[in-house]
Amino acid sequence: MCGIVGSINHYDIVPDLLEGLGNIEYRGYDSAGIAVLNNNELTTIKRSGKLRNLAQELSLKPLSSHAGIGHTRWATHGKPNETNAHPHSNHDVSVVHNGIIENYLDLRNWLTAEGFRFQSDTDTEVIPHLISLFLEQGLPPQEALNIALKHLDGAFAIGVLFRRDAEHLYAARRGSPLVLGQSDLGLCLGSDTMALTSSVDRVLYLEEGEQARLSRDHFCIIDANGQPIKREMKLFSHQIDSQSKQSHQFYMHKEIHQQADTIRETFYHTQRQVPELPINFKQLDRISIVACGTSYYAAMVAKYWFEQIAKVPVDIDVASEFRYRDPLLSPHGLSIFISQSGETADTLAALRYAKNQGQKILSIVNVAGSTIARESHFSLQTQAGPEVGVASTKAFTAQLAVLAKLALHTGHSRNAMSFSDASHLMQEISTLPGLINMTLGVEDQFKTIGESLKACSNAFFIGRGISYPLALEGALKLKEISYLHAEGFGAGELKHGPIALIEPGVPVFVLAPSDSLLEKTLSNLEEVMARGGRCIVLADQRSCRHLPENVESITLPDCDSRLTPILYAIAVQLIAYHAALAIGTDVDQPRNLAKSVTVE
Ligand code: AGP
Repeated sequence: MCGIVGSINHYDIVPDLLEGLGNIEYRGYDSAGIAVLNNNELTTIKRSGKLRNLAQELSLKPLSSHAGIGHTRWATHGKPNETNAHPHSNHDVSVVHNGIIENYLDLRNWLTAEGFRFQSDTDTEVIPHLISLFLEQGLPPQEALNIALKHLDGAFAIGVLFRRDAEHLYAARRGSPLVLGQSDLGLCLGSDTMALTSSVDRVLYLEEGEQARLSRDHFCIIDANGQPIKREMKLFSHQIDSQSKQSHQFYMHKEIHQQADTIRETFYHTQRQVPELPINFKQLDRISIVACGTSYYAAMVAKYWFEQIAKVPVDIDVASEFRYRDPLLSPHGLSIFISQSGETADTLAALRYAKNQGQKILSIVNVAGSTIARESHFSLQTQAGPEVGVASTKAFTAQLAVLAKLALHTGHSRNAMSFSDASHLMQEISTLPGLINMTLGVEDQFKTIGESLKACSNAFFIGRGISYPLALEGALKLKEISYLHAEGFGAGELKHGPIALIEPGVPVFVLAPSDSLLEKTLSNLEEVMARGGRCIVLADQRSCRHLPENVESITLPDCDSRLTPILYAIAVQLIAYHAALAIGTDVDQPRNLAKSVTVE
């Protein structure tokens, strides 16, 4: 959940550290700090709150150096205050860390007994003191680090500076991502490629258990046994565009408006990638799909598609539950893992479990080179481009685009759908970018509705069939950026309890496309209205003709009822965005959240 950066080169690295931290602040923003090395002295500056607080401090007390590390935090152990901010340093060692050290209490007790004094409540602070313990026994930095790492249980990606080694920056990873970058000016490291300085044109992803030692012009990789290994950097080009909001107030708004293009781009690429997959879709007897959060709702939609279009049974699981229910996976079956970041710890752990069970692993990720992509047998990349807003929007619809193509391809491979139906659906898919733009074109209507939620304390979303996952997604979008309590239900479930929550004025969003369940959905709408609930209907040009008088509604364009999740996603995103804007929350970096959940 945190973001780490590091840099060593021939000029002042402090601006690079701040630039890198700014680009990965979405990974966590409770506090930020840097440590730099000058004339055999380590200097650490850190501040609670957003990165701007640290930048302000550095403008008052400028620092410069050729080697440094930085960190932006999402608190796991210890309050989000200055003391618990990273880097954690002692006289000889400074460390930034992303992950969780699970045996930190035992280590803390041991190191306290060895005379070390702890300043913070974090798990991370054991790392610099543990390294120092071995330095004091006369070991050189690399060996002291290597031995210290062997004492750690849990996950880490770390950057390390040694006061007595001005020529090197050290790094190591186990369970959390870490990437190295190189340019003609020097070397750097980061939690993901967004952290790397804009001059970087070559990258290398550290593998599990590997360490790295960086100097101004060279790097060396060391395996888990401390042996140097030869690995080459790969060419890389930064997607600078993602680092600007253009004319938008928030990245989320920019990313919502990119969806016609990202959907078109994703369909185009997936069209070519899917047939190349060495998977015998004809012989598949079952598919398992696993993900978290919004990506899990994409999995829920995919279940309808694979079962209705391709006639393949699908099991779906929230990643954090999957491996603990001892799932009965079909032998040599296909397990699909969906993740925007490609680094979600719960999803990665589930993937490793399924792989150990002999499953073929296919991942759908938005970040090339991410750990989930690299640990899959096959990976499809959504073409959403870097998604900076913590609330996932364009990545979600891009995931749906890939899954729709996969379901279509599977159905076609199994002769489960007629050629005419497959052609019709392909034609409908090709119209989606235009329909998305039409939906974006009535943003003012979503703005009015979103703003009207400002005075509410609850909001509900209901839908049936393939709209049910969208009801859940709409509730998640609203709650995570506006902090309003929002909940999604299958519309048919209302009468089994949730309807007790309906009282005059409570806003209930009713997803009502003109599909085979419309009549039942309209009955549920009437049930809510009869109890004074404020129904706001998301309908299309056909279903809107069946709505009761005077009910609030927004009419979306008509499309094949199987594709409505992609279109209705735009609607619920805009409603959430404008509600949050009216309430005044930090839309891109909502409280307590981070973009990539790299801790279990
Ligand atoms: C989505 O708006 C949330 N930020 C969150 O639920 C997210 O979808 C979830 O953490 C999964 O992330 P991933 O797709 O990167 O694995």
